[in-house]
Amino acid sequence: MEYADLLIENHGKVVVIRLNRPKAMNALNDNMMNELGHALYQYDADPAVNVIILTGSEKVFAAGADIAAMANYTYADTYPGNYIGRNWEHILNVRKPVIGVVAGYALGGGCELAMMCDFLIASDKAKFGQPEIKVGVTPGAGGTQRLPRTIGKSKAMDMLLTSRMIDALEAERTGLVSRIFPAETLMEEALAVANTIAEMPVTVAMAIKDSVNRAFETTLTEGVRYERRFFHAAFGTPAQKEGMSAFLEKRKANFEGM
Ligand code: HXC
Repeated sequence: MEYADLLIENHGKVVVIRLNRPKAMNALNDNMMNELGHALYQYDADPAVNVIILTGSEKVFAAGADIAAMANYTYADTYPGNYIGRNWEHILNVRKPVIGVVAGYALGGGCELAMMCDFLIASDKAKFGQPEIKVGVTPGAGGTQRLPRTIGKSKAMDMLLTSRMIDALEAERTGLVSRIFPAETLMEEALAVANTIAEMPVTVAMAIKDSVNRAFETTLTEGVRYERRFFHAAFGTPAQKEGMSAFLEKRKANFEGM
């Protein structure tokens, strides 16, 4: 399917969804978020795809929610209309791994969308920020919640209250991103990471993702119990048989279709 505000690239078992509103710094508008939801659900359900990459352009992942579209909104447009709530969180329902790849700016809603990915890979030129306070609003898609859980209260408060951007090194140091690559080789490296995951059994990847996300919603005891159910269930799957046989037979496992 053709999208107005997204570009799709297929790389074997990895699909790259690129946010694409170059004239507006990839500002996230209603149409783009609807299209993103559509694309995410489509590839999550596609048996040919094991991993999804969400990225933007070299200059910008996304510079936030579309200020031009929001500027004249009233409360009646936002709360009753469920602005943001109705189409920004489809990504949280995706069961396959979603890697956010950030080159350039990830600001406001762009940083919040990035934080909804499973993990982030950044270019050495990436910049992250929550400058909503400068345009007179609070974050609305998890900036005050996911950021402190990820980088701690002090750094998060600093970013949220001053609107200061952090660079890739600070983002990596604080745990917001998992790896940094040079801008020139970012996509190549990110695809290599994605392909490593795509060769693993996708059902196990989905269970790990499910279980890790549970850690943020429950107690340690309940979380470990949840994890153990997946571990026990793994013994009823072809992936466990193939993985353990391959190890004992000293050959590479083939998890195709598992
Ligand atoms: C609408 C935007 C935009 C945005 C940039 N543009 N960000 N349009 N919404 N969030 C537009 C500009 O108006 C301009 O349009 C064009 O993109 C290029 O932007 P410039 O500012 O000229 O580029 P540059 O000088 O390189 O600066 C890049 C930038 C800056 C640092 C990313 O654009 C910026 O600070 N943007 C706003 C960041 C922000 O405040 N984000 C939070 C938004 S609130 P023209 O037509 O002039 O060429 C938010 C709330 C989320 O996200 C809550 C719920 C999710």
